[in-house]
Amino acid sequence: QEVLRAGLAGLGTVGASVVRLIARHENDLAVRCGRPMRVAAVSARSRDKDRGIDISAMEWFDDPVALATSDGIDVFVELIGGDSGPAEDAVRAALKAGKHVVTANKALLAKHGVELARLAEENGASLNFEAAVAGGIPIVKVMRESLAGNAVNRVYGILNGTCNYILTQMEQEQRSFEECLAEAQRLGYAEADPTFDIEGNDTAHKLAILTSLAFGTEIDDASIYIEGISSITLADIEAADELGYRIKLLGVAQRTETGIEQRVHPTMVPKSSAIARIDGVLNAIAVDADFVGEIVLVGPGAGGEATASSVVGDMADLGRGLSVPVLGRPAGELEPYRRARMRLHEGGYYIRLE
Ligand code: HSE
Repeated sequence: QEVLRAGLAGLGTVGASVVRLIARHENDLAVRCGRPMRVAAVSARSRDKDRGIDISAMEWFDDPVALATSDGIDVFVELIGGDSGPAEDAVRAALKAGKHVVTANKALLAKHGVELARLAEENGASLNFEAAVAGGIPIVKVMRESLAGNAVNRVYGILNGTCNYILTQMEQEQRSFEECLAEAQRLGYAEADPTFDIEGNDTAHKLAILTSLAFGTEIDDASIYIEGISSITLADIEAADELGYRIKLLGVAQRTETGIEQRVHPTMVPKSSAIARIDGVLNAIAVDADFVGEIVLVGPGAGGEATASSVVGDMADLGRGLSVPVLGRPAGELEPYRRARMRLHEGGYYIRLE
């Protein structure tokens, strides 16, 4: 049977895990996809770095754009990161060449998702991004496929593992913010620039993608109210605790009378709720929709192996020949976004989850 040949750009934590996963589950994947899958070519900053993986049988490219358009690949897997530069150039080039793309790059999708989706559709290519939202949790598939028969009222959750790790460690171990952040970086959860995590931008990127899937609207991260966790202190956490709450950084998107509201901010979550019990690097996403009611998905939102699981899941779909509309749903009229204007710290309290 014809092999699905992947070209992988970026061999960091996630890229190396993808290579390892495919090597370990080669036979099962061939059965599940109906055809074998192989990483045929790779590109990264350094060829010789020891990553604990064998890339000797893979074609090497110094230039990810050349890899993305190579005749030797069927699917381009972008794990470079960043909302511009080589990641953007390579994804655009791949789509223009009619190659399917799998990406974990939420920043790129939040900024250029609408254009990239259009480019994919014009060129008969697929753009798959399960790994871009909440790492290992298969939320994109759930939103696109399993909940296709619902109208979503609200989607919200913990979308950044680094922040949730920091908040949990601060609360449970009484450790300082800085210490917990350093540990999250050491464990490979944080972004290359961790201000993206702690200031809420990474959550906003993921929320923008989720909103588009939930409401059939175009991605618009510019209308998101964003506030991160860098000003949260142990005293805030203790005060919330006394009132029966835990502080979580939430991304929330909901339908309102005047449009779709998107916001990211530290939130007081009742201890009795499912979201309050999510500890460490885990993410959780709650979807409230008209027919299904509320569902909550929980799982690892960061880390090489969990993210690789989603990347390879997307590759398997392409191996099977599955193709779905890239973004959103075929909604009639796009609903306008409403810019949330919030003052969250008034009176020294954070907004609560209703
Ligand atoms: N830095 C991100 C996080 C990685 O901590 O959740 C996954 O997107």
